[in-house]
Amino acid sequence: MLVLGIETSCDETSAAVVRDGREILSNVVASQIALHQPYGGVVPELASRHHLEVIDTIVAESLNEAGVRLDDIEGVAATCGPGLASSLLIGLTAGKAIALARGLPFIGINHLEAHLVSPWLSARREFEPNVSLIVSGGHTILVHARAVSDHTVLGQTLDDAAGEAFDKVAKLLGLGYPGGPEIEKCARDGNPAAIPFPRGKLNDPDHDFSFSGIKTAVLYWLRKQPNPSILHPPSSILNDLCASFQQAVVEVLVGKTIAAARACRVRAVTVSGGVACNGALREQLAVACQRHRIELFVADRKLCTDNAAMIAGIAFHKLRAGLRSPMDLDAQPNLRL
Ligand code: KG4
Ligand code: ZN
Repeated sequence: MLVLGIETSCDETSAAVVRDGREILSNVVASQIALHQPYGGVVPELASRHHLEVIDTIVAESLNEAGVRLDDIEGVAATCGPGLASSLLIGLTAGKAIALARGLPFIGINHLEAHLVSPWLSARREFEPNVSLIVSGGHTILVHARAVSDHTVLGQTLDDAAGEAFDKVAKLLGLGYPGGPEIEKCARDGNPAAIPFPRGKLNDPDHDFSFSGIKTAVLYWLRKQPNPSILHPPSSILNDLCASFQQAVVEVLVGKTIAAARACRVRAVTVSGGVACNGALREQLAVACQRHRIELFVADRKLCTDNAAMIAGIAFHKLRAGLRSPMDLDAQPNLRL
């Protein structure tokens, strides 16, 4: 079954064609990073206006790249939540309109549920029971996934998402947006043991996270510096600070993910979301999983960040099971897993 997926929950306009929930024929992603960069964060009005301007072209490109025509498509899926209401509305309306005009089955997709399938799409493997870490700018969630569409949230962040912490700390340091890649760049040349930032909730028995304490610790550390100019890049102190901050976040993410996998007695761990692009997180998770004889599936970088392939990927399973969404399905900004 050829499924057309559409994703516009935040600041990426994406359309993809996926065959049978496994084979990605196209995955076109138009990033709006440059548009929002001057504001240091996503501006919802700009995001939705841009989605509207490009959605038709992106869908056409996804068909083109896949080498198929709209006539070949057998099902349409679009993200219905969670995300920015005005952004969600554009992709959702486009998806419903295409389905209605073509008489095709339509399904609205929970963006977070789609993140759960992206590592399997990447690995081209059948789904296995796993513990999944979704770690992005908006979410940090640990999920026990028993099967596609059968999952329980084990825990999540009580305050900032991990990516949000990267973005906020980067802003404090005067680095660019988004902050994750900027901090990672500086961290490469820094000493991760230079500053002992707190590992929030690392040793608590629950599966929740907290990153606001690390962020505040960075702020206090900065305030104590008599000469802030020592942090102007290139600066070895800035590099040490970034490496130490990154290490604190990575240790918490790795520690809590392994603890959850052991508690659920699963043999596989999966990771997706923008922060899963982070090299230190990927490396340290790989080492920890190997030590505990757990197989690790990390989505390819292009499937970690928001994309429509994962929307079409999960949609296949739902459409095949006979599930459909009504044409009056609304955007659900606060949809949960
Ligand atoms: O999944 P995503 O593209 O969008 C959502 O938040 O849904 O994730 C973006 C987040 C941003 O907070 C960004 O700073 C973070 O992912 N990020 C990273 C890296 N690349 C992106 N964080 C740490 N290291 C990276 N290399
Ligand atoms: Zn996402």
